[in-house]
Amino acid sequence: MSISFDAEKRTFELQTQNTCYQLSVDRTGVLRHLYYGKRVGGTNMRYLEKCCDRGFSGSPYDFQTDHGCSADLMSQEYSSFGVGDYRPSALAAVLENGSRSIELHYQDFEIEEGKYIPEGLPYVRENRDAVSTLTVRLLDETAGLEVSLIYSVFEEKDVITRSAFIRNQDERSIVLLKAASFCLDFPYGDYDLIHFSGRHCMERKPERTKLTQAVTVIESKRGMSSHHANPFVILCDPEANEHSGHCFGFMLMYSGSHKEEISKDQAGSIRLTVGIQDEGFSWTLSPGEAFQTPEVILSFSDEGLNGLSGRFHRILRENVCDQRFIGRKLPVLLNSWEACYFDFDLEKLLKLADESRDLGIELFVLDDGWFGSREDDHRGLGDWYANEKRLPGGLNRLSEEIHARGMQFGIWVEPEMVNENSDLYRKHPDYVLKDPGRKPVMARNQLVLDLTRREVRDYLFVSISRILEEAKIEYVKWDFNRSISNLWTVSLPAERQGEAGHRYVLGLYDLLSRIRKAFPEVMIEGCAGGGGRFDAGMLFYCPQIWCSDNTDPAARLSIQRGTSYGYPPCTMGSHVSAAPNHQTGRSVSMKTRGITAMAGAFGFELNPVSLTEEEKAEVCEMIRTYHSYEDLVRHGVYYRLTEQEEPFTAWEFVSQDKSEVLVSLVITHLEANSAFPYVKLRGLDPERQYRMEGMEGDNEAVEPLSGAALMYGGFAFDALRGDFPGEQVYFRALQV
Ligand code: GLA
Repeated sequence: MSISFDAEKRTFELQTQNTCYQLSVDRTGVLRHLYYGKRVGGTNMRYLEKCCDRGFSGSPYDFQTDHGCSADLMSQEYSSFGVGDYRPSALAAVLENGSRSIELHYQDFEIEEGKYIPEGLPYVRENRDAVSTLTVRLLDETAGLEVSLIYSVFEEKDVITRSAFIRNQDERSIVLLKAASFCLDFPYGDYDLIHFSGRHCMERKPERTKLTQAVTVIESKRGMSSHHANPFVILCDPEANEHSGHCFGFMLMYSGSHKEEISKDQAGSIRLTVGIQDEGFSWTLSPGEAFQTPEVILSFSDEGLNGLSGRFHRILRENVCDQRFIGRKLPVLLNSWEACYFDFDLEKLLKLADESRDLGIELFVLDDGWFGSREDDHRGLGDWYANEKRLPGGLNRLSEEIHARGMQFGIWVEPEMVNENSDLYRKHPDYVLKDPGRKPVMARNQLVLDLTRREVRDYLFVSISRILEEAKIEYVKWDFNRSISNLWTVSLPAERQGEAGHRYVLGLYDLLSRIRKAFPEVMIEGCAGGGGRFDAGMLFYCPQIWCSDNTDPAARLSIQRGTSYGYPPCTMGSHVSAAPNHQTGRSVSMKTRGITAMAGAFGFELNPVSLTEEEKAEVCEMIRTYHSYEDLVRHGVYYRLTEQEEPFTAWEFVSQDKSEVLVSLVITHLEANSAFPYVKLRGLDPERQYRMEGMEGDNEAVEPLSGAALMYGGFAFDALRGDFPGEQVYFRALQV
C-alpha cells in the first residue's frame, strides 16, 4: 500500500517509487505539510519543523503562550483566509453573518484502493495502475464548512493527484470566494520558478525566474486556459538543468480561468497555490451543497527537467488521453485552412483531395467555411449545416468522394461560438453570454454561447450529432476563437453570477463527454486559435491539440519545445506548411519543415496543388520516413538535448525497449566556420551496440557504436548550411 498512517505521530506518508509526501496533524489540530520530494527512508520529517517567535505572526488563542505556534509560520496542507496565515490562501469564503474567517481542523481520514473521480470534471484515469486514495476531512466548526483533501497516489508513475471537496454542513449559506485545488509549502530551500507564457501564435515560452520575497502570480482571466499563461508550473533547484537537479511539476487539469500563486515569505519559505481563478469567482453553497475543485497532477524528479517531463508525458499519455487513439496508428492528415482558407468549392476541394491522396495523405480535413452562410469570419457561426451552394450534396457527398479516394474525412467546428449574423443568433439572441444593458466586447466578430445552460448544450449536441450521423466523419477539429468577456448568464440569479465562469467550463466538459460517448470512434482534436486551450483538461477529451496557429518551423521549434515540458509530443498537432510561411513570411526548406512537424502529431497545412514536382517527391519521401518513425514518436521517451539558448535545437526519441533512437536537429543561429553541432544522447542502453541507418553523406560512423559511447562520448553532426538547416539520424540496436 502506497499510503500509510502513523497513529502515534499522526503522520500520513504517501509513497511512490521514487518520491514521498508527508503530512501530519499537529497538536492544535491543524493539518501540516511536512515534506514532498525524493524518498527519505521512512524518516518522519517533522524534525525539520522549528518554532520561533516572529513579530506580527500571532498564535491560536489556546496556544498563545506557546511562542512560534503560528499559522503564519507553519507549513499548511490547505491554507485559509482570515485566521493569522498572511501568505496566499487556498480557501476564502464569506459566511451569512459577513465573517470571512475560515479555520480548518482535522477530523478523520479514509484510505481506499482505487482512484478518486471528481464529478463533472476531467481526471487522471486509473487504467491499469495500482492507485490508492487518501481522503483527509477537515472542519471549521463555527462556519459548518467541511473540506476533504483528496490525494490519489500512482505509485509506479511517481505521480500524486490532489483536489478538494468542500461541503456546507451548516443551516446557513456560505459563499466561497476562492477554492484552490491545493496548497503546497516548501519550508526550506531556494527554488527557481519556470512557467510557460506567450501570446496567440507564440505559445508556451519557458520563463525561468528566481523567487524573491513577493507573490508571483501566473493567471488567466480569459475563460480559457489561454495562450498567455499555461496552467503548468515547475519549481526546481537553481542549478537544475535539462538533465540533472531536483524538479517539481504541478499541472492543473482545467480549461478555464486559472491562477497559480507562488510566494516567498519573511522566513524564505515558499508556498504554491493552484486552482480556479478567484477574481470574478464566487460560489454559493446552500445548506448541504458541495463544491469540487479541479484536479492537480503533482510529480517530482531528481533527474532534471527531462526527467520531470518524462513523468508528465507518461501519465498524460497513459492515464489522461483516451487510449483508443493513443494505442493506434493515426492517419497523416491534410488540413485545408492554409491551403485555401475560405476560398473553396467542391471542385477545388476534390482537386486538393486527389493531390493529397497521391502524396500519401490519409485523412482530408475540411476546415472553416463549409456551413451556413460562412464565407468569411463575419457570418454563419452557429449554423451547423452544410452550405449547399459551395458543397452540393452536403457533407455526405464530399465525405463519399473523399472515402472513394481511400482517405478518411474530417471537419472543423467551433460549437461554443456564434456570429450575430447567423440564423442561430437571429432565432436565439438570448443564447449568448452577455451582460444586460451593455454592448459586449467583440472578438473575431463572434460572441460566446452560454454553455451554463442545458438547452444551449442540447442544441449543440443535437447539431453536432446530426453532422456526425449524416456523413461518415472520422475526425473533428474543435475550435474556440476568442477570450470570454461580459460573463453574465440568464441561468443564474444576481448573487450567483460569480459561478458563471466555472459553470461554463463544466458545461463544456458535459458537452464534450456527451459527444465522446455518442461517437467514441471519432477523434476530436482540440484547438483554440491554435494552442489557447492546451491543457490536461482538454486532453482528457481530445487526445491531440493543435499546438499553435504559427506553422513557421523556426517559431514552432520553440513552441513545441516549450509545450514539451509538460505535454507529450504525440498530443501536439504539428503540420508542414507552405514556404514562405503565412504567419512570418520566412522560407525554410521542406526538409526542416518535415523534421519539425515530425516532433508531434504529423500532418500538412498547405496546398498540394501548388507544389513543384520536386517538392511533391520530397513530401512523399517525408511521409514514408514518418511512417517508419511513427511508433517511436508516439510512444518513445522524449528528451530535449539542448538548453534553451543554444544555437541549435536538438531532441531525441528513444523506444521504451531502448532499441531505436531518433535524433533530430535544427540550427536556428547559423554562423560561418562554426563548430560541428554536437550532442550527447540520452536514455540508451550503455551495453548495447547501435548502428546508424539511413543518413546521407559520407559519415564515418558506419561501424556500430555502443550506447555508452553515444551517451558519454556524444555524437557530432556534419556541418550544415542554409537557412535553418535540419538533420535527423536514426540508430537501431543490434540484435544480441
Ligand atoms: C483558428 C484555428 C485555425 C483555423 C481557423 C479557422 O484560428 O486555429 O487553425 O481553423 O481558426 O477559422
